[in-house]
Amino acid sequence: MRYDFPAGFLWGASTASHQVEGNTRNSWSEWEIMPHRLAELHENGLIERYGRENYISGRGADHYARYEEDFKLARELGHTATRISIEWSRIEPEEGVFDPLAIAHYQKVIAAIRENGMEPFVTLWHWTLPLWLSARGGWQSNGTQRLFERYARHMAHALPDVRMWLTINEPEIYTGNSYMAGLWPPQKRNPLAYSLVLEHLIAGHKLAYAAIKGVNAKNQISIAKNNIYFEAAGGALAPWNALVKRVADWWWNDYFLNRIHRHMDFIGLNHYFHNRIDGWLGKNANEKISDLGWELHPESIYHVLCALKKYGKPIYITENGLADAHDAQRPWFLVESLRHVHRAIAAGVQVRGYLHWSLMDNFEWAFGFWPRFGLIEINYKTLERRPRQSAYIYKKICEANAIEE
Ligand code: FCB
Repeated sequence: MRYDFPAGFLWGASTASHQVEGNTRNSWSEWEIMPHRLAELHENGLIERYGRENYISGRGADHYARYEEDFKLARELGHTATRISIEWSRIEPEEGVFDPLAIAHYQKVIAAIRENGMEPFVTLWHWTLPLWLSARGGWQSNGTQRLFERYARHMAHALPDVRMWLTINEPEIYTGNSYMAGLWPPQKRNPLAYSLVLEHLIAGHKLAYAAIKGVNAKNQISIAKNNIYFEAAGGALAPWNALVKRVADWWWNDYFLNRIHRHMDFIGLNHYFHNRIDGWLGKNANEKISDLGWELHPESIYHVLCALKKYGKPIYITENGLADAHDAQRPWFLVESLRHVHRAIAAGVQVRGYLHWSLMDNFEWAFGFWPRFGLIEINYKTLERRPRQSAYIYKKICEANAIEE
């Protein structure tokens, strides 16, 4: 069988600044070294298990210095697109002071992506804040949306060769983990703060959208939205399950998009999760799981894509992947997921590209370095890059613009 993708379909992988660049100084790196963070890791036996260095982003994969090598490798692996994020704390290290060297760096990064024949996708905010901004309350503080607008406009001017923009990454995951679950900096459990942050992110996106469009009307702008496949089980509880699914879909999948749908040119979809509702949002049967214990259910992406059809916008998958240090499941997961993407396209969903998470191993937020999401393996001692077997399987698909079996 051969499954052809539409002409011009973009193939590639994603990264985010704090996770790969190394030596960032921002709200997250400060949190990594706070005494209460260390205490929390000790209490949970995690330092003993993974070591202190696992939890310090430090030099990371040193992508900040090695981006040329990394993009060359991505091109050799058949990629035609790549997603990066700009580190706001580098661009605006002090309020209102824009660092020309940092800007020049990202100009070189975009040039290197283009020289390697790839389309850059640029995220402006992937969760890390400049220190001066987190000190003023980050997105909880009214006014941050205006600062974000100014930063977005600045970057749109500075990077005229970028067409595909993502203002913010996964607003619902960020607000949930940082302001409701108390897991991520600033570790709040406060519904009021949570709703304020959500409102400010919505406002910030809209302002940034107008600013980036204002610089060049050809710019295509969206967010990266984490959508979940809520599956309603049948049986005696079927009507109830269907109702829970409707509420979960409305709140988790559609709320943010509904608020910004007049301010987006496409949808950036990040997809990882499946949740089968049988009575409540319980735990799934989880036949297959990743190293992080996340369920591997490739079919979910088909359902999530079909549900996005109603927005009538092109869709780019901006993240999809798994932690799999031994690359034991990635080949299967990748091909199977792409088969379901193909199925969605055949069902009339306008999917225009797929960016796997991630191009290389990286710093997986509160879990640190041990989860291995990369198509390319990083040896953190030598910083050597080595593509995993799945990277070559993916290369064949990218180059053929088809899955061939
Ligand atoms: C997503 C994040 C990304 C990465 C993957 C595994 O939620 O956007 O940075 O951590 O999960």
